[in-house]
Amino acid sequence: MSKEKIPAGEYKRRRKQLMQAMGKDTIAILPAAIHKLRNRDTEYPYRQRSDFLYLSGFAEPEAVIVLLPGRKQGEFIMFTRERDRTMEIWNGYRSGPEGAVADFGADDAFPIDDLDDILPGLMEGRETIYYSLGRDKEFDSHIVDWVSKQRTQSRSGALATPEIVDLNFLLHELRLFKSKAELRVMRRAAKIAVAAHNRAMQAVKPKMYEYELEAEYLFEFRKSNAIPAYNSIVGGGENGCILHYVENNQPLKDGELVLVDAGAEYQGYASDITRTFPVGGKFSKEQKIIYDIVLAAQEAALKKSKPGCHWNDPHDAAVKTIVKGLIKIGLLKGTLAANLKSEKYRDFYMHRTGHWLGLDTHDVGDYKIDEQWRLLEPGMVYTIEPGIYIAPDLKSVPKRWRGIGIRIEDDVVITDDGCEILTEGMPRTTAEVEAHIAAA
Ligand code: GLY
Ligand code: MN
Ligand code: MN
Repeated sequence: MSKEKIPAGEYKRRRKQLMQAMGKDTIAILPAAIHKLRNRDTEYPYRQRSDFLYLSGFAEPEAVIVLLPGRKQGEFIMFTRERDRTMEIWNGYRSGPEGAVADFGADDAFPIDDLDDILPGLMEGRETIYYSLGRDKEFDSHIVDWVSKQRTQSRSGALATPEIVDLNFLLHELRLFKSKAELRVMRRAAKIAVAAHNRAMQAVKPKMYEYELEAEYLFEFRKSNAIPAYNSIVGGGENGCILHYVENNQPLKDGELVLVDAGAEYQGYASDITRTFPVGGKFSKEQKIIYDIVLAAQEAALKKSKPGCHWNDPHDAAVKTIVKGLIKIGLLKGTLAANLKSEKYRDFYMHRTGHWLGLDTHDVGDYKIDEQWRLLEPGMVYTIEPGIYIAPDLKSVPKRWRGIGIRIEDDVVITDDGCEILTEGMPRTTAEVEAHIAAA
């Protein structure tokens, strides 16, 4: 088995940890992601719900995970589609309940069509139902039906209906801390995206279309059994100032920059990288000045990425660096303190410096505990992605600066004494970028 796969034992450990946190007389119920139709009978590519993947590694639709802490006959039950020769010839392989037991560690498994008959029985006597409401309306209404039919004998002897508690809080706290096996997979996801950026930087040429550059990423991802973790952003020139630009249909011009935000999803785990590079191979004076401020902001954020710092410290450090830089070149007026207070810098830097990264690109996990920014701890993975975007119509700044949009984004994991950059192995400084392009 590849080292970059989550081993079966790890799924078991995750379920065990979750069940320990749930406690006795509880049950957790997680349905698989639903298929989404694109048109008529063509579907969007199926992607399993991340919580479901995290607890089982099972990637098929029409399935349900049930966890029953302390149940003697088995704590981990799965419902899956049945094997079906005709359906498998048309639509692909199915594990079936037998595969759920043999390959995914279920203690017992049943056909999904029997869910309505079996699940209410499994819920009996369970006082708390852990379930994430609000993601699948049809399943939500089944849950409410099943729950309202349950009556449990409470400790006082009175009959009570079990309580539905959001599963997210317990499960997402587990997902926030990445294991060694997860980090191996995430390093691989990062490496694939690094290779794609390195390839694209050497492929870029004036007059090329943004989608042609995007194709370099797609090629590199698929070659390595990965898919885009999100819609790639390939914005030439002033399109780099549109934060979620995904049209990717314009020609790239000599003298302009192209901002590419593209990450790979490998074995369910995301990487998330942005590089901004000159279409013609050389940064202009203004582009280089802005780039160096963004790079300095990223360096400042990296310095605050270590145990003992709080979640917001890297962001604060990046904002300060950007504000100082913009004051120095005259794009912001007044003192650092006044600009931090007025938040005028938000004309140029309007997003946060990062987010958790994992099975989801914007991964789960609380950023605050008791209303305070939480401490950074080993195993947390996040992005550091400062940027400066000077809108093309921002009349308050001299014309030569307008339309420059630059972001630099890398992925880090907090270690015992600092952080490891998962996305190493690619140019970051302007000199490195130019040398890499020149070496094509
Ligand atoms: N690519 C999405 C993000 O950077 O947050
Ligand atoms: Mn990104
Ligand atoms: Mn990001």
